[in-house]
Amino acid sequence: MKDIFEKLHDKMGPLGMHADDAHGYFTFPKLEGPIGPRMKFRGVEKLNWSLNNYLGLANHPDVMKADADAATQFGMAYPMGARMMSGNSNYHEQLERDLADFIHKPDVILLNYGYQGVVSAIDALIDRHDVVVYDAESHACIIDGLRLHLGKRFVYKHNNVEDCEKQLIRATKLAEETGGGVLVITEGVFGMSGSQGKIKEIVALKDKFNFRLFVDDAHGFGTMGKTGAGTGEEQNCQDGIDIYFSTFAKSMAGIGAFIGSDPHVIKFLRYNMRSQIYAKALPMPMVVGSIKRLEMIRTQPEHKDNLWKIVHALQGGLKDAGFNIGITTTPVTPVLLNGTIPEATHLTYDLRENYNIFCSIVVYPVVPKGVIMLRLIPTAVHTLEDVEITINAFKSVKSKLDSGEYRKEKLAAVN
Ligand SMILES: Cc1ncc(COP(=O)(O)O)c(C=O)c1O
Repeated sequence: MKDIFEKLHDKMGPLGMHADDAHGYFTFPKLEGPIGPRMKFRGVEKLNWSLNNYLGLANHPDVMKADADAATQFGMAYPMGARMMSGNSNYHEQLERDLADFIHKPDVILLNYGYQGVVSAIDALIDRHDVVVYDAESHACIIDGLRLHLGKRFVYKHNNVEDCEKQLIRATKLAEETGGGVLVITEGVFGMSGSQGKIKEIVALKDKFNFRLFVDDAHGFGTMGKTGAGTGEEQNCQDGIDIYFSTFAKSMAGIGAFIGSDPHVIKFLRYNMRSQIYAKALPMPMVVGSIKRLEMIRTQPEHKDNLWKIVHALQGGLKDAGFNIGITTTPVTPVLLNGTIPEATHLTYDLRENYNIFCSIVVYPVVPKGVIMLRLIPTAVHTLEDVEITINAFKSVKSKLDSGEYRKEKLAAVN
């Protein structure tokens, strides 16, 4: 018999296989200093485009003060226990009411984390008779939630409403046989490509099919729509979203998440989501701090306005300079280049060390073989000067890539 640890040496997994070469530089890098567009990496200041701090709230003095005051008043432990048992508070309930008002849903349930919240909500909402139809490029939390599903699921081609309809035909037929229902799941904003889920068109399919719609709007909340209420507001179809999910990990610059829906759905989730019933409630500084963040999102539109000023300058400037930024219609800004993985690592190293620009790099298997995706997240606290510096640096590394310069050298040691 084998020791289960034996395989861990040679089967490190698709990301872990790069651990020895990449750790500390390409993976698990440490960004130091106050959160913002300028942070230190390995002791040197970099222009940073890698944080989902869309509205710049992470380091806002009013947010820091709200967090700190709540930590002084309550400590980090309060409340102790899961909300159902001993961990509820007026503040948790106030945040739920505030969120519900903001996203125009009748009720909201707070979640400790987005990832586990989505997994657990899917687990709670559907049983073996139900059938799921979901986008092929759904976030890992959706895929992992579906792993718990004992019934059938049909995947549709990414953002392809025609294929979604085809899968709905199959799902409807099956659900009629099993006596279950149909749940469609998509994202509001796809975090890699920056494209919006076709929520309005999916909602329109309700005229032909009987289903409920779950939207993960992690990247849309705070950034999209007139008031920042998300992609449903942007596409003018918030009412058609039956289960609206978002996390505090991005625009809200915190930890935690929430689901908005009809009161009977939220009541059901409160009593049936295992990730919430069997886990400690969000700590008070995160709850009080989130009330503050939401108030700022609601009453200070300048954060979203600044974000979009930077988004337009960055995306417009990149396009004018001839870069392929794919089909983004949101702040997420992918820059698509052609090259091998060694070229990609070389280019990123050059960008970081010689141009002092830090952004995320995405390669196969997340993008097709031969594609290098540099992913930029503009925020409200970047400047137009940051945009200009970055576009010039990108022009320079692209011409080196195109002329084969990154093929010549051996990858520089990064340790
Ligand atoms: C689309 C999407 N859904 C869910 C999550 C998970 O949220 P959390 O970080 O709160 O676990 C993320 C990442 O944060 C995400 O990008």
